[in-house]
Formats: sequence, C-alpha cells, structure tokens
Amino acid sequence: MINVVFVCLGNICRSPMAEAVMRHKVMEKGLVEQIRIDSAGTGNWHVGKPPHEGTRKLLDGYQISYANMTARQFVSADFTEFDYIICMDNSNAENVRSLPGGEEAEIIKFMDLLPNEKLREVPDPYYTGNFEEVYELVNAGCDVLLNRIQEEHPLT
Ligand code: 4NP
Repeated sequence: MINVVFVCLGNICRSPMAEAVMRHKVMEKGLVEQIRIDSAGTGNWHVGKPPHEGTRKLLDGYQISYANMTARQFVSADFTEFDYIICMDNSNAENVRSLPGGEEAEIIKFMDLLPNEKLREVPDPYYTGNFEEVYELVNAGCDVLLNRIQEEHPLT
C-alpha cells in the first residue's frame, strides 16, 4: 500500500479537494487497493468538520465524492505512516518541517508537481474565494502525482 497525504492549513479547502480529486483518479484507474489517500491541516481550528462549502460545491459540480471526509490535524506519526507528504503552500511545508521528526522527512510542495506553472503555491481559496482556480491546479497536479507514484512503484 502506498500512502499519500495532502496538507494545508485548515484541512477544509485545498487539501480535502486534493484528497477527493486524487481518490477519484485512483478509483478510475482501479488502484484503490494499492494507493490510500488522506489529508490533514497544520492547524486544529476545524478538526472534525466537513470540507468548506466552496470545496463541497466545486466537488459536487464535478461529481467527485467527499463522503465521510472530516478535518484532522497533521501529527508527527504521519511522517512514518505516509510515503508522500504533499504540502499545498510554503508555509504549510515549513509548519510540517518544524514538527518533531520533520527535519529528515521528505516533503513535496504541490506546485513542484507543476514546474511550468507560474504560481509556486496553491492559492488559499479561504481568502481568495476562487475554488475553481484551485481545482485546475489540483486536477493537473494529481495527474502528475499519480504518474509519478506509478513510476516509482512499478507494481501498483
Ligand atoms: P485551507 O484554507 O488551508 O485550504 O483549508 C483555510 C481554512 C481555514 C483557515 C485558513 C485557511 N482558517 O484560518 O480558519
């Protein structure tokens, strides 16, 4: 089993969107038994809550399920549990890095999956209100990530 976790600040807007989109792609490829997808926030304000209404409406529009998804906080144990830790912006990555065990962890910045994009961080729609912009980036980046996982783990 390959374990993937997306990380943002609140775990209600960006990382749950990435989780839902990535799981949808994994289902389409018939890889649900091989690749597990999760998400978490570096903050704890929204723990237990479902995704933000903007993320829910966007996913509804693309008929992508977010069933049973609730926010949780990223914890140090996640460093050993997950093979791919993917942070949506630079401050998320710095917050994860500063946790116990974070110094030696491999942390991927989501926008490094899309080296040709001018944006180098996934903008936070909690402040911009632009969930569609996030979807376009997340959708493209998750395609790249899935290809990368399959290259790095040829049996999946
Ligand atoms: P997210 O967006 O990190 O993409 O889930 C945010 C959600 C909540 C807050 C900030 C960002 N907040 O400050 O409550």
